[in-house]
Amino acid sequence: MKLSGKTALITGSSEGIGEAVAVRFAEEGADVVVTYRSHPQEAARVVDTIKARGRRSVAVEADVGRAGLADGLIERAVRELGPLDILVNNAGIEKRAPFVEVAESDYDAVLDVNLKGAFFVTQAFVRHLMETKRPGKVINMSSVHEELPFPHFAPYCLSKGALKMMTRTLAIELAPLGIQVNGIAPGAIATPINTKLLQDHEKLDALLSQIPLHRLGQPSDIAGVAAFLASADADYLTGTTIFADGGLLWNYSEQ
Ligand code: BGC
Repeated sequence: MKLSGKTALITGSSEGIGEAVAVRFAEEGADVVVTYRSHPQEAARVVDTIKARGRRSVAVEADVGRAGLADGLIERAVRELGPLDILVNNAGIEKRAPFVEVAESDYDAVLDVNLKGAFFVTQAFVRHLMETKRPGKVINMSSVHEELPFPHFAPYCLSKGALKMMTRTLAIELAPLGIQVNGIAPGAIATPINTKLLQDHEKLDALLSQIPLHRLGQPSDIAGVAAFLASADADYLTGTTIFADGGLLWNYSEQ
């Protein structure tokens, strides 16, 4: 087991990639704080699954986009499960719209959760590590769209491009504290964020034709990468992003 004796907080872990990461971390021996915004029942189910694996777990309601609540989230997590070692900034949303129709409220919603939320939860986590004089690991759940343009999803791409620079910048700034910061860039993963796409066979086939491994990723494909980054096996990695995308990003071929 890679994460015995560790405690992790994973934002947005009531479903999708976050849920898979939470359960995988528990299987690797970690205790896990699950956070959710609008799915309390699903979060409770994830907690039950983790407890069934013999680990401690608690679900905490958290709208990470409200930066002022970040310190309270970390305090609550520490009160419930003790000092934290690992933070996964997983919570993320996307909203489709042509650039000329993007509403300010949607722009703010996407940037608040995907970027500002990750920033201030990390800040609260790092303060906690400094107070308790312990090292730690931060994993930012990015996307292939930290590099790859995604028409009709401009705010999402902005948020992930900036998250990439947050990973790099904090990796350098926090290295002297023994805090490593890395990112994961999933491609197309079968999760609730993709519900519409999964139901549209034409669009799905078009997407699959662009993925060299010719399948959507599963949340477990990403959870394995997260478990690696959170473990001692990744002790010499910082400031980097691992792409887990079936080859989507660098795909090019001529007929
Ligand atoms: C987005 C999905 C998209 C995938 C591949 C992800 O970051 O959340 O909506 O299908 O990238 O383009």
